Amino acid sequence: MGYMDRAYNKYDELTNEYMKEKSLSEIKELSLYFTPHEIADCLFKDVIITKKDDIKILDTSCGNGMLILKLIEKILFNYIPNEISIYAFDIDPILINNVNLILKQIDVKSHGIKINLKLYCEDYLHSNINIEFDYIVMNPPYKKVNISDVPLNLQGVIIGQPNLYHLFIIKALGAMNENGVLCILSPKNYLSGKYTEKLRNRLVTEYSLYKIHTFNNRRTFFDVKITQEVCIVHIARKPIKDVIVSYNGNKPMKLPLEKLILDSKTNIIQTPRDMNDYALIFKFNKFPKGVIGNSIHMKTGNIVQFRVKNEFLSEEEYQHIEGGVPLIVYRHINSGSLIYSKLVDKIRNKSISIYDNNSTKSLLVDNRNYVILRKNTDKKYDKLISCIPYIKYLKTDKLGIDNGLAYLTNYDDSLTELEVRGIQCILMSKQFDDYYRMVNSSHTLNVYEFENLHFPDMHTIRMIGMDLGKNDVTIRLATKIMDNYL
Ligand SMILES: C[S@@+](CC[C@H](N)C(=O)[O-])C[C@H]1O[C@@H](n2cnc3c(N)ncnc32)[C@H](O)[C@@H]1O
Repeated sequence: MGYMDRAYNKYDELTNEYMKEKSLSEIKELSLYFTPHEIADCLFKDVIITKKDDIKILDTSCGNGMLILKLIEKILFNYIPNEISIYAFDIDPILINNVNLILKQIDVKSHGIKINLKLYCEDYLHSNINIEFDYIVMNPPYKKVNISDVPLNLQGVIIGQPNLYHLFIIKALGAMNENGVLCILSPKNYLSGKYTEKLRNRLVTEYSLYKIHTFNNRRTFFDVKITQEVCIVHIARKPIKDVIVSYNGNKPMKLPLEKLILDSKTNIIQTPRDMNDYALIFKFNKFPKGVIGNSIHMKTGNIVQFRVKNEFLSEEEYQHIEGGVPLIVYRHINSGSLIYSKLVDKIRNKSISIYDNNSTKSLLVDNRNYVILRKNTDKKYDKLISCIPYIKYLKTDKLGIDNGLAYLTNYDDSLTELEVRGIQCILMSKQFDDYYRMVNSSHTLNVYEFENLHFPDMHTIRMIGMDLGKNDVTIRLATKIMDNYL
C-alpha cells in the first residue's frame, strides 16, 4: 500500500543500522528478536477488526514498530477510521526514537486520518498507564526473572519462576476494552507449562482464545537461535466459542476450544496441526490420566556431569575400572537400542563410567528394567521421542543415568520386560508422538507434560507388550500395534 511504503523503507533502513551495532550476546540478553515481515503478516491474519472511529493501539515492547505498522496496514485495508492513537513502550531510547521517525512516515493525511503518537521509553511492566485499548500487540522479551523483581500487582498468577513474557501477557489482559483484542507472538510454553496454570485458567474462564497458530521450526524465522517453540495467539474479551487453529501452511481449522483443553485442572491447551492430530485427542481421551505419575514414574537422570568431581568420572568402559559403574549418556541411546561404548568422536564430555563411592552413591540407581528416553527432542527429525528398553542389559549392580536422559520406572523399580517393551512400543508409535507434540512446547521432554497425558493402563501396556512379541520395536511396527488400541 502506497501510504505505508515510506514507513516500511524507513523501518528497514533503521533496523539494519540498529542491528549492525548489536552483538549476538546483546541480542539475546535484550531479546531483540524483531519480527520479520511475513511473521508479522501472519500475526494479524484473522484479527478481529471492529469498525470504530477512534481507535487505540498499544504495543507493549515495540522495538522498531513492525507490529504497529502491520496492524495499521491491516486496519486501513478494512476501513478508514478518523483517529488512531498509538501507545508504544520500549526500554531502549534509540528504538523509541526510531519508532517516532518510522511511524511519522505513514502517509494518511489525505485520507483525513489523524495519528497520535504516545511513545514511552519505559519498562511496560512498571508503567502506570491506565487506558483501555482496542488492540494490544506484542512480541515481548523472553527471559526468566526472579519473583522478587516482579511488580506486586502482577504477582500471584505465575506459580514458580516467571518469564518476562508471562508478565507482559498478564498485564495486557487487564488493559483490553470490551471489544479489545490482544495479538501475541511469544513462546508457546504458557499454553502447557506448569508455572502458567493460573494464567491459563484466567484465559479460558474470563477471555476467549480465538486463534492459535504454531510453527514447524522455532529457528527458521528469527536470525538468531532461540530454543523455544513460538506461537501466535489472539485473545478477545467477548465470548467466542471456536478457535481458529493453524500450523504452517496447513489448512486452518475452526475447533471448539473446550475440546482442546486437556482437563479443567491444568487447562493445558493442545495444539493440533491438522484434523488427524485433532482426532488423536479423542482417541487418547479413552485412556486414563495419571498412569504416568502413579503406576509409572518418569524421572530425570541424576548425573549432572559438571557437578560431579572429575576424578569420579571416567572415559573408560566400567568393566575396566575398579569400583566403576556404567554412566549412560544420550549418545548411547540410538536407533531403538542401548549401545554402551566409548565416545570416540567427541572432544569433551566423554565420560561413560562413574565411580560408586560415598559421594556418588545417592546419584546411582539399581540395575533394573527401565525405559530410557533422550530428554532433548530434535525437531529436525519426524519423531520427538527417542527411547530404548533397558532390560538389565549391563552386568552391574548400579547404574549412573546422565541428566540428558529421562527414564520410566515404577514405585519399586520392578517393571517387567513385558511392561518395558509395552511402554516403549507406545512411546515409539507415531500416534503417541503426534499426541505428545500437541502439548510439548520446548526442546525437551517434560515430566509435567507427560504426567498430564492420557496413557494406556498397565493391563493394556502388557497386552501391547505381548502383541510386540520378540520383535524389535520399529516406529512402523509400534504405529501398527497402537492402531489396534486407539
Ligand atoms: C522480541 S523484541 C520485539 C520487538 C518488536 N515488537 C517486534 O516485534 O519487532 C522485544 C522488545 O522488547 C523491548 N523490551 C525489553 N524489556 C522491556 C520492558 N521491560 N518494557 C518494554 N519493552 C521492553 C526490547 O528492547 C525489544 O525491543
